Formats: sequence, structure tokens, C-alpha cells
Amino acid sequence: MTEPHPVGLSIRGGVKVYPGTRALKGVDFDLRMGAVNVLVGENGAGKSTLMKVIAGVEALTAGQISMNGQPVQIASKSDAVALGIGIVFQELNLFPNMTVAENIFIAREPLRLGFDIDARAQSDAARALMRRLEHDIDPDTPLGTLRIGQQQIVEIAKALAQNARILILDEPTSALSASEVEVLFRVIADLKAQGVGIVYISHRLEELIRIGDYITVLRDGTITGARAMEGVDIPWIVRAMIGEGSKEFPRTEAPRFGAEVFRAEDVCLPRLGGGFTVDHLSLSVREGEILGLYGLMGAGRTEFLECVMAQHPHATGRYFIAGQPLTERDVAGRIARGLALIPEDRKRDGLVQIMSIRENITLSALSRFARLFHLNLDLRAEAASALDFVKRLTIKIASPDNPVSSLSGGNQQKVVIGKALMTDPKILLMDEPSRGIDIGAKAEVFRTMRRLAAEGLGILFVTSDLDEVLALSDRILVMADGRLTGEFPSGAAPADVIAAATRHKLKDHAA
Ligand SMILES: Nc1ncnc2c1ncn2[C@@H]1O[C@H](COP(=O)(O)OP(=O)(O)OP(=O)(O)O)[C@@H](O)[C@H]1O
Ligand SMILES: [Mg+2]
Repeated sequence: MTEPHPVGLSIRGGVKVYPGTRALKGVDFDLRMGAVNVLVGENGAGKSTLMKVIAGVEALTAGQISMNGQPVQIASKSDAVALGIGIVFQELNLFPNMTVAENIFIAREPLRLGFDIDARAQSDAARALMRRLEHDIDPDTPLGTLRIGQQQIVEIAKALAQNARILILDEPTSALSASEVEVLFRVIADLKAQGVGIVYISHRLEELIRIGDYITVLRDGTITGARAMEGVDIPWIVRAMIGEGSKEFPRTEAPRFGAEVFRAEDVCLPRLGGGFTVDHLSLSVREGEILGLYGLMGAGRTEFLECVMAQHPHATGRYFIAGQPLTERDVAGRIARGLALIPEDRKRDGLVQIMSIRENITLSALSRFARLFHLNLDLRAEAASALDFVKRLTIKIASPDNPVSSLSGGNQQKVVIGKALMTDPKILLMDEPSRGIDIGAKAEVFRTMRRLAAEGLGILFVTSDLDEVLALSDRILVMADGRLTGEFPSGAAPADVIAAATRHKLKDHAA
């Protein structure tokens, strides 16, 4: 029988040592062409490292890469491009001040040596790519004005523009809505039919089972499972990822709620060109309560949280903390009153990449320490607290003094959560708290949320994950088109929640 999916690239004995970390410990990996090769593992398992080695961004400490049976050297990104290897990085690698089209073609400019780059042709080609991805993003808009999900689409377009034979997608869907994911899957099916070998990394296990042809599981730098996808189910993946005795979602004990800790009244965020992104929204949260705000992409959930944090000067509305009006007009003032936000785009809003993990965690808490110790910063206390949070969130690090950029993507997210907790908030706003983190860490974040609520914190979290909102919320509010369209107790029927989230859209189409 002929091999249906020939091995296009393979690694034998791949070892990668970073200062203080052995990220890959002798990995054998086969990448099959005309197929989707999925790669899964806990945060820090070594997935991105393995892909960076193939993409010429990192060099192997030991081991050999070959393509079609021949040994190859991939010493730089341009080596990889020349070998037909394209990658969509987990952390977006775009330039906010350049246009969408410029971002898409930036990697190719040097290849056209001697030619003037034809801006018109570039923008036409970019428009064609956007059509292929079923998006109407204008190629001439500055990238920085796009939302994170749209930026992710641009990053994907950039990789497609290279016409790579091997395409690596490192968590491409973490910021995409369900319908955008469907479009991407259609594009992947297309590429596969053309014989392209695809590597696909995700923490969404259902997604992997759906589109994968082959699966490789990494655990702590070692491969613990590699096989064809047929017959693989979620329990198999979880066992290979974290061993026996897998972690589960925390159980909800009968929660006790206290007095109202936060109230928003009549919050409005006008939309450019009429209407409202947040449309006369009111809600309240009690001490100890976890309130889940569910809705589809574009429902206005993120914008609502941003209004609460004073990030939209044109928004109107009233806020109360424990019954006292919130008059502070800036972010710092609102943090001082006890609000904390864990943003959706954690890399841009959450972390200072060049600072150490310890500094990042304690940055927002400095004023609190300064208060406690009369401006005489107690560094020992700072260090101890930072370490305590690292332990509580099981952040995998060599040392808290390493730069945040040395952490795996999921572990960076945990640092952002730790950072918000250090400000000692009364109300914690969380935008997609489990995005990009592995299922063990997810359970840990959920446990942390439960514990914080039990200590009296009010939590308002936004999610597009139905299972998550149902499993975690004491009460569920549903948003559509900027408005509240439903309220449900915990244990609501999934179909009712979905109906509320799509209600407005259906009406609009009928009209
Ligand atoms: N530049 C670096 N310097 C030092 N250590 C690093 C560096 N990059 C990664 N590491 C470490 O290597 C290990 C593997 O990281 P990697 O980014 O490959 O994980 P991952 O499997 O992609 O995780 P995630 O699911 O969180 O993205 C981690 O322990 C990480 O801290
Ligand atoms: Mg990664």
C-alpha cells in the first residue's frame, strides 16, 4: 500500500536547552504532508519551542532535522521560508503602526529585491486573502485599530501569503469566534487537499479531535503519545498530557453571598455612526458571587468591562462599590477603589515583556506595599508574595527573576492573573479567563476563582465558552448587541442560554 501521508519533515533526538530549562529532552517528531498534525500538551510542555526550531527561530541544542529524508539546516527564519515553512506564532508578531497589507507582506519584501514595492498590488493581494478568510477588513487600515481576533486573522493571512508547503499554526484560534474558527477550518481543509502539511496547536481538545489526522502529545519536553487520530478521545489525550488521576473542574459548594459589592447603572457606549456598542446596561454583583457574562463575539462584553475600567472617555453610566458612588474617572483611581481587570489581550495590556516575572507580578501592587511600609518598600515581602502567587497558580518557571518573555504562552497568562490579584481587589473583572491555558491550569484558575469568591470577592467574568459559563457561574447574564437578553440561575439549560445569546441577531435578520 502506498503511504497516504508521506513524512515531509522529521526531527530525531531533538534537544533544546534554555538557560535553566530543558525544554525538549530528545524528541522524535514526524510531520506528515496533506494532513493535519495536531500537537497538544500542558503549558510549558515544549510545543512552541518545537515549532520555533522548525521555523528557524530557535536552534536545536542537539538532534537532527530532515526533510524528505535529507538532513537540513534551518538556521534562520529565511532558511525556513526558503524551505517552504510558514508559521503563525502564538504571540502575534505584527506592527500596530503599519497597515494590514504592509503587515501581511513585510516578510516578503526582501525577496523582491530591486523592485519597487507596489502598494496597490499589495493591497489588492491582501484584499483577496481577506476574502479567502471571509473577512471584510480593509487592507489599508492601521493594524493597531483592529481587535485582537481580527489581528489573529491578519497573522493567518500573512502565513498564507507565503504559499508554504508546511504551515504551522500555534494556537491560531485562541482569539477567534466560533464562526471564524469554521472559516479557518475550511481554509485548512483546502490546504490539506493541496498536499500542505499542517501542524496545529490548541488547548481546545474537541477542536483537535475534529480536525486532526495525527496527534502528538508532549509532556515536560518528552513525547508521551503519537498516533493516527482514529480512535483517540478526550480521556486518552488527557491521560497522555497529565498522566493518570486527571484534574477535574472544581465542584461548586453551596455559595454564600453577602451584600451587593458592585453595581453598574445604565451604562452606554455610543457606536461610531449611530447606535450603541453597550446599550443601557445595568447589573450588580454580590460579595462572594461569580457572575458569568455570556455572549457571542461582538456582543459588547469586552467593551462593557472596558467602560467599567474607565477606558472609554465617551461612555456614560453610573457605578457603585458597596453602595458608594464611583466617581474616579481614570483607571488608576478605579483600581484604588478595588476594581481589577484581567484583560482579553494579555500580552498587550497585561505584561511588560522585558521585566522579570517577579516585577510584573508586583508592579501593580507596589502602591499597596508602599502604603503598608510607609514608602519604605519591603523587598522581602515583595519577593515572598510574588513566589506565593507563582505557587498558587502553578506557574512553571526556572526563576522569578527571568524575563516574562521566557515563559510559555499559557504561563504568561497566569502571571497576568497573579498580577491582578496582587492589587487586593474587591471586584475582579475577568475577560475570557481560561483563554490559552491548558486544562490543568484551567481547573486551577477556576479553583482560584472559587476560593477568592469564598473569601468575599465579587467576580464578573466574560466568556464565549458555554460549558465554562454553565460550570462556573452562580448566575448567568446573557448579552447580545450591547443589551442584556437573559438572566439564568446556575444549572440553566444550555439551549436557553444560546437562545438568549442569538435572540437579537435572529430578530434583526427577520426584519
Ligand atoms: N526564551 C526562553 N528562555 C528561557 N526559557 C524558555 C524560553 N522560551 C521557553 N522557555 C521555557 O521552555 C519551556 C517550554 O516552553 P514552550 O513555550 O515551548 O511551552 P508550550 O508547550 O508552548 O506552552 P503553552 O501551552 O503555555 O504555550 C517552558 O518551561 C518555558 O518557560
Ligand atoms: Mg506555546
